[in-house]
Amino acid sequence: MAPELRVTQVDPQDREALRAWSVPSRAAFLQSAPTEEDLQERRRAVTGHRLSAVHDTVAGEDRVVATLRTFDSELTVPGSGPVSVDAVSTATVLPTHRRRGLLTRMLTADLERARHDGHAFAALIAAEAPIYGRFGFGAATRATSLVLDDARVRFRPDAPAASGSLEFVPDGRTAELAAVHDRTRRHRPGGLLRDEAWWQAAARRGPGRWLGHSGHVVLHRDERGVADGYVAYDVTDESVGRVPDGTAHVRDLAAATPAAYRALWEFVTSIDLVRTTRAGNRPVDELLPHLLVDPRAVQTGPVDDLLWLRALDVPGALAARRYLGCGTLVLKVVDPLGLAEATVRLHVAAQRCGADGWVCAEVTTTDAEPDVVLPVGELSSLLLGGTSAVALHAAGRIDCSAAAAYTLTTLMATPEQPWCPTWF
Ligand SMILES: CC(C)(COP(=O)(O)OP(=O)(O)OC[C@H]1O[C@@H](n2cnc3c(N)ncnc32)[C@H](O)[C@@H]1OP(=O)(O)O)[C@@H](O)C(=O)NCCC(=O)NCCS
Repeated sequence: MAPELRVTQVDPQDREALRAWSVPSRAAFLQSAPTEEDLQERRRAVTGHRLSAVHDTVAGEDRVVATLRTFDSELTVPGSGPVSVDAVSTATVLPTHRRRGLLTRMLTADLERARHDGHAFAALIAAEAPIYGRFGFGAATRATSLVLDDARVRFRPDAPAASGSLEFVPDGRTAELAAVHDRTRRHRPGGLLRDEAWWQAAARRGPGRWLGHSGHVVLHRDERGVADGYVAYDVTDESVGRVPDGTAHVRDLAAATPAAYRALWEFVTSIDLVRTTRAGNRPVDELLPHLLVDPRAVQTGPVDDLLWLRALDVPGALAARRYLGCGTLVLKVVDPLGLAEATVRLHVAAQRCGADGWVCAEVTTTDAEPDVVLPVGELSSLLLGGTSAVALHAAGRIDCSAAAAYTLTTLMATPEQPWCPTWF
């Protein structure tokens, strides 16, 4: 890095330092300079986070030209529930300073720190797919969008019954929503912790926000009155002539039980004056079409990557999750940053199977001949169960026999596709 550039850590409570840090982070994401309100909100959102800044001191003036924000979070891994993760965000470099290695400098330092602090994983949401492979990240969850023709949504007679009750949630009351989300995020791989600041931000209204201007949240309670699901949706009021043609946009729908899931979809697709329901960032194996008499009432949009994962400690990452298949493979993991290089024996034996069917692996470092040689980004793509080792093998991205690719695919497979409903 050029001598006039230096890296500092920014204290989020330092008002002026946070303002200077927010300028490039908004400019790089094509946003205007921060207002006082933006800064106050940002301070709340980043309290307790690690903020890196690159300063350019050329011509005697000190300006922040690049930023990175990281924080400790929790990620749900297959069969085991949440584990700690270094969440990476706000990676921005001013257009005047791009492609001089500033991202590389900040991110590499943070990944080294995270590994030293004992994190087995780092995670991020990539603005563009080509950026993070070189840093050892791999796409680990995917998401899609749905368009529902409400008039054709009829539930099959054998679908779980919509028992319980529904109620509108007053603005700003998020405690029960947070409790429902916390329950649901622990079950599907890819789920992330939402902290208090996340919910505070969700409660505020405005364009581009969780609830937009005209959104609502409806809570589902089971027969005992316990909250077990919610849907947050925004509506647009349109008509063709005098015929109502409104659209409901589902921003977030979480359900801890099949009854809550059915009740919430049934509710949101039957709002008066609304003909179409759209939902973004939904799992690629959404249950809804299976519940309907006409599954084509649900049209699925493009499938894109969402969460990118990076193993920082290969034995730790492999041991953190559990497995459904059985088998033994020696994996040689190659790391472009040299942080997590390892050769390990992954042994999953039926005798170690728990009552729930998941098996704890024995993971040991070894100098045996590897069955599979793979870059750390490819391993990271496989770890949540959302990527097929057979596909990576066919694409020439992992080096092994066809039989070893089958075994690895079977070992990593999960009953549900990993999904991350939380942006950060
Ligand atoms: C993406 C961004 C942070 C990259 O910062 P940068 O300081 O230019 O990155 P570096 O100079 O460290 O680049 C390292 C390598 O990644 C490559 N790279 C960086 N950004 C890339 C992109 N968007 N697409 C493809 N390659 C990219 C560089 O070409 C370089 O490759 P090389 O080592 O072969 O020369 C910056 O361009 C930016 O702020 N973009 C707008 C906001 C954004 O998209 N942020 C990412 C949020 S997830």
